[in-house]
Amino acid sequence: MAARAAILLGAECVISIDRIPERLEMTERHVGSEVIDYTSTDVGAELRERTGGRGPDVCIEAVGMEAHSDSPVHLYDQVKQQLRLQSDRPTAVRQAIHACRKGGTVFILGVFAGAVDKFPLGAVINKGLTVRGAQQHGQRYIPMLLDRLAAGELSTAHLATHSVSLDEAPRAYEMFKEKEDGCVRAVIRPGD
Ligand SMILES: NC(=O)c1ccc[n+]([C@@H]2O[C@H](COP(=O)([O-])OP(=O)(O)OC[C@H]3O[C@@H](n4cnc5c(N)ncnc54)[C@H](O)[C@@H]3O)[C@@H](O)[C@H]2O)c1
Repeated sequence: MAARAAILLGAECVISIDRIPERLEMTERHVGSEVIDYTSTDVGAELRERTGGRGPDVCIEAVGMEAHSDSPVHLYDQVKQQLRLQSDRPTAVRQAIHACRKGGTVFILGVFAGAVDKFPLGAVINKGLTVRGAQQHGQRYIPMLLDRLAAGELSTAHLATHSVSLDEAPRAYEMFKEKEDGCVRAVIRPGD
């Protein structure tokens, strides 16, 4: 939805990054962004290649505190989390800061709870980045989003990959959490 919003707001090129094939395929088909599987390429190098060597103007971090990575620093984050020395894993935030072009903007959409370590403050300062974040302001944006849905500019039906009864809700949450069976969102229908 972040990628779709960026396209609607006029971004010339939008690149979505994930590792789950069906999510990348869904994004390409329903959102119209380019995609990168971060497990099969060097994301920083690939982004520079696709942006004339400069890096993206804006990087949106839409992953949050449960970020995944195969890098050694991810292991470091997990150990620090388990020792209660930090609360979140800011893997994708670091990647966004390093990938963004000089003078660009990093928007942190993923939710974080508290303190993080190895935050690349030097890169923020020396690249002159603007760093922003926010929780979605529902009351303000929902009327505009409903108008855009009615006008056919946004669609959400493809996200509802599973439909379950209330009894099946715990299993649906588990599928969502573990990214099983292509689950992106499970719609819970209490009457079923
Ligand atoms: N700020 C807000 O108002 C707002 C609103 C909704 C959701 N959120 C937050 O946004 C985050 C994402 O929510 P969601 O419901 O889309 O979760 P989700 O689990 O459906 O999607 C997260 C995706 O990130 C991918 N991912 C994990 N590590 C990655 C990495 N290093 N690089 C790239 N991709 C990676 C996962 O494979 C997954 O597809 C959460 O933190 C959620 O709380 C914030």
